[in-house]
Amino acid sequence: MSIFLNRKSVRNYDENFKIPRNELNEMLELALRAPSSMNLQPTRMIVVESKEAKEKIKPHMFGNILQLDTSSAFIIIATDLNKFETGIKVFSDSEHLGFLPKEVANRQKDIIKERNNNYNKARILNEGYLDGGLLAMQLMLVAKEYGYDTCPIAGFNKQTILSALNIEDENLQPILIVSLGKAKDAGYDSYRISLDDAVKYY
Ligand SMILES: Cc1cc2nc3c(=O)[nH]c(=O)nc-3n(C[C@H](O)[C@H](O)[C@H](O)COP(=O)(O)O)c2cc1C
Repeated sequence: MSIFLNRKSVRNYDENFKIPRNELNEMLELALRAPSSMNLQPTRMIVVESKEAKEKIKPHMFGNILQLDTSSAFIIIATDLNKFETGIKVFSDSEHLGFLPKEVANRQKDIIKERNNNYNKARILNEGYLDGGLLAMQLMLVAKEYGYDTCPIAGFNKQTILSALNIEDENLQPILIVSLGKAKDAGYDSYRISLDDAVKYY
């Protein structure tokens, strides 16, 4: 239970501590185990680590500068609005690697093609927020398990932040940032509403 009870949003990190790349990749791979709608896996992570890249995105933050300046990695979670095109490969690979029989993979591919024709951008984006939110939560818990801390951050300009990094891809929509690092200040204890207020049984 400890990672669930001990995870808190941490906003000030040891700015001299760099998470080794292999350890960061392990955490990101575990985060990628999060579920996604139809297993299309549309979530992408843009990892901002260098001082230079951090300075580029700074003007696109709404507050949250302490997390930006002190975190070891500032991870922009984005969703691929072109997921029905890129997702076909998930099913080809699933079949070739023996995760799915050919008939099942083909049936899924047919559904994807049908949705590609019928879903509008708002619906795809809505699914992207769900998938990306689940992955972000998984990343925050994995980080805690590894002894690090995080803060989910929605306070940034979603329209401009990727251009600041010279990423020009109209299908890539940022949804959330997760700052990640070694905590310098512990996060605040935060109140939760009661079970009675949050849960109804029928
Ligand atoms: C979608 C979302 C957006 C958030 N955006 C910010 C943010 O921009 N800046 C910030 O400092 N914290 C942000 N937070 C963190 C919340 O303030 C925090 O999760 C909440 O106060 C509960 O505290 P805890 O995470 O320590 O349990 C965000 C959290 C969520 C889930």
